[in-house]
Amino acid sequence: MWPGESLLYVLRERMGLPGAKNACEQGECGSCTVYLDGTPVCACLVAAGQAQDRDVVTVEGLADGSDLHTVQKAFVEAGAVQCGFCTPGLVVAVHDLLERDPAPSDPDIREALAGNLCRCTGYEKIMEAVRLAARS
Ligand code: FES
Ligand code: FES
Repeated sequence: MWPGESLLYVLRERMGLPGAKNACEQGECGSCTVYLDGTPVCACLVAAGQAQDRDVVTVEGLADGSDLHTVQKAFVEAGAVQCGFCTPGLVVAVHDLLERDPAPSDPDIREALAGNLCRCTGYEKIMEAVRLAARS
């Protein structure tokens, strides 16, 4: 491994964890969001060497085996997944939001997800998924 490779590359290409998506590779879209030591980061902007010996959790790690996390279930139930490219990053961002604020207002949800772009849904189904996850 070259230490200058991105964490996203290492997760997807070397570790077989394709959950975090590579959409822009410039820190603009949030599709590659993962937890690094408990803080959501864009994995495309983190050099693999910076992540060494630190705690990384991807969207795969939020599920309990084949039992999806509440946030993941809510995205499916609300119909908030279309092409799915934005979904893993959004799930991590929503997971983080609900850890900090279990009952966020709509403006708080919008603010928390401002860094996660979706080209398909128009965001309303995503808002519904967050509300559903917060109620679950
Ligand atoms: S792929 Fe990392 S922010 Fe878009
Ligand atoms: S579902 Fe396609 S980008 Fe969001």
